[in-house]
Amino acid sequence: KKYIAEPFKIKAVEPIAMTTKQQRIAAIKEAGYNTFLLKSKDVYIDLLTDSGTSAMSDNQWAGLMIGDEAYAGSKNFYNLEAAVRNVYGFKYVVPTHQGRGAENLLSQIMIKKGDYVPGNMYFTTTRLHQELNGGTFVDVIIDEAHNSELEVPFKGDVDLNKFQRLIDQVGPEKIPYICVAVTVNLAGGQPVSMKNLKEVKELASKYGIKIMFDATRCVENAFYIKEREDGYQDKSIAAILKEMMSYADGCTMSGKKDCLVNIGGFLAMNDEDLYLQASQLVVVYEGMPSYGGLAGRDMEAMARGIYESIDEDYIKHRIYQVRYLGDRLIENGVPVVRPIGGHAVFLDAKKFLPHVPQDNFPAQALAAELYIHSGVRSMERGIVSAGRDKEGKNYYPKLELVRLTIPRRVYTYSHMDVVAEACIDLYQQRDSIKGLKITYEPPVLRFFTSRFEPL
Ligand code: F0G
Repeated sequence: KKYIAEPFKIKAVEPIAMTTKQQRIAAIKEAGYNTFLLKSKDVYIDLLTDSGTSAMSDNQWAGLMIGDEAYAGSKNFYNLEAAVRNVYGFKYVVPTHQGRGAENLLSQIMIKKGDYVPGNMYFTTTRLHQELNGGTFVDVIIDEAHNSELEVPFKGDVDLNKFQRLIDQVGPEKIPYICVAVTVNLAGGQPVSMKNLKEVKELASKYGIKIMFDATRCVENAFYIKEREDGYQDKSIAAILKEMMSYADGCTMSGKKDCLVNIGGFLAMNDEDLYLQASQLVVVYEGMPSYGGLAGRDMEAMARGIYESIDEDYIKHRIYQVRYLGDRLIENGVPVVRPIGGHAVFLDAKKFLPHVPQDNFPAQALAAELYIHSGVRSMERGIVSAGRDKEGKNYYPKLELVRLTIPRRVYTYSHMDVVAEACIDLYQQRDSIKGLKITYEPPVLRFFTSRFEPL
């Protein structure tokens, strides 16, 4: 199969562990059948997440050496601020240690008890911060996003009727902002169209509702717009990204994804008053507004990563590599979320293991089996990740998925082939895979530390 080769060469290598099946059986048992609890030394190809796992460039590593570790007013903060202004177009930026730090600030400032926060599908930490501040998350993504098989080009789009209905039901004064994720992680890395972003802006503005993007994977979203949306083929990724951001009042960002760093994030906005409040609150949780829990060198790496992320060859290779893995699975009949999204290939565990009921955690079981079979670490994104509602009842998400998340600039196409072959093999022996039962569950964000046993 044809692929575009890497637009980079390798300057430093990191050896990875080759393990035996016996070792892996012991390791996953010790980890309570939860891939989050595996030690990375026992993992061969690590597709747990694309978060903080990407490779930095030589230019970013060089940037670390000019870290200005002043407590206040570090020059790297101003470089970061300039990058955010130039590339995303937001006026103000408050750095945070990672994305959820920004979510915490935004939720505390904007959400009052009894408010509603619409969003195009939940994300774990985002929804939790909304709930911790007395808000209720309301899913306003298009219905198609909950169906893993439908080939829709912009499956992350907001359903304007759902958004309008919520406004009519609760009143605009109870909706501080709509959170629009570009792309939508848990829908399978699905993008939002420019047309939809414009329409959301129009509707929200009519009622004075603010628009905050979860910009975590915004460059991947821009690539899809360039590829799929009429009128954008000849525009640069940089121009598309700027236009996308022009429809938002601000954003939270996990820099650990599209900003190509191992740690870092920020809250950005145009509104001076929101900036003022964020800079008052950031000192409580993160640090001075000019470092927000980051070292000067980390801010420099993020500033440089922001510029590198809009390189056309980089982002094309990124998306195509993920798609290559997805296409190999599709060709071999393995059930995956379609179309293939930006950061990951998602196995459809409900279709992969139709004999395992959702209460027996099919995606969790599949992730454990994939590890045992091949040493590939993936992540459950199903009923375990969805957690429980305020009454303590399980959420039952329609999508029960195993995410094969591809770090940026880290693995080669041969690694993708290993992963594909492992999934295909496993699919052929799917009848022998059994479900799990839970033996330990923490009160929140249970997917991180829950433990299981085979049935
Ligand atoms: N929003 C989205 C869409 C995310 O995917 C993440 C993190 C966050 C916010 C929170 O950012 O981790 O920097 O605090 N996603 C990671 C993942 C953990 O594996 O999908 P963070």
